[in-house]
Amino acid sequence: MRFYAAGMDKPSMARMYDYYLGGNHHTPADVAAAERVLVAVPTLKEIARANRAFLRRAVTELTAAGVRQFLDIGSGIPTAGNVHEIAQQHAPDSHVVYVDIDPEAVAHSNELLNGNHGAAAVQADLGDPASILEHPEVERLLDFDRPIALLMLSVLQFLPDTTALPAVRKLRDALPPGSFLALTHPATDALTQGPRDTVDTVYRTTNAPTTTPRSRAEIAALFSGFELLEPGLVWVPLWRPDRDPGPIDPTIMPMLAGVAVRPGR
Ligand SMILES: C[S@@+](CC[C@H](N)C(=O)[O-])C[C@H]1O[C@@H](n2cnc3c(N)ncnc32)[C@H](O)[C@@H]1O
Repeated sequence: MRFYAAGMDKPSMARMYDYYLGGNHHTPADVAAAERVLVAVPTLKEIARANRAFLRRAVTELTAAGVRQFLDIGSGIPTAGNVHEIAQQHAPDSHVVYVDIDPEAVAHSNELLNGNHGAAAVQADLGDPASILEHPEVERLLDFDRPIALLMLSVLQFLPDTTALPAVRKLRDALPPGSFLALTHPATDALTQGPRDTVDTVYRTTNAPTTTPRSRAEIAALFSGFELLEPGLVWVPLWRPDRDPGPIDPTIMPMLAGVAVRPGR
């Protein structure tokens, strides 16, 4: 995949996401691009927050289910409630590897992880899954003979089918029975073509080569060979909410979430 570090005067997908979340690792170029996206999808800040809330709930549940190994791909610039903080709070022996294509996101993560022996952040491309599976830090921290939770939240839309589908297949195949796959993904079912076109146009000015929102059926197919846990593939606030989220309008929250298990253990 064509990728370059965004630099300071070019918007970056990781820093734009940091802006949506109210973080402080972004530049005026990121803000300008993010504001253009927000005109097309005015609820994007709420979507980003709901996505992070799903991450917290999913990692909490997976830790409670006994998972002690997490591979978070497309992990982004660290913000409140990162996987290692949630997992190690519940189970201090948890191991976590963060993977991002963006060296800046990886540098921020490693700064935060300094001294944490159970977690590391590495730079790799999801489009080249062998480079993730064979990465020395992944081999050091994760035991592929024991269950692993593979997290890919709000990242697969940055890969076209030609790379996303074989990559997801290879990663799924590498996970032993009893492993979990957690995904969030924007859904075309709830995003009309106009906003999709604007989002794509803006992201093409960033370090994302393309955007590929997918339909509910296409997102469900990413879990192939795995069994979705209750409540299935749902709009992100509806996945095991802490409190009643009230009625959800998918056009306001067009992000699907699901967690699935690889059977056979
Ligand atoms: C929208 S952010 C999501 C961050 C985090 N997963 C979350 O949901 O809060 C997308 C992240 O995916 C990363 N990313 C995009 N394409 C990638 C690729 N091919 N391989 C690895 N990371 C990628 C970006 O750099 C960015 O940090």
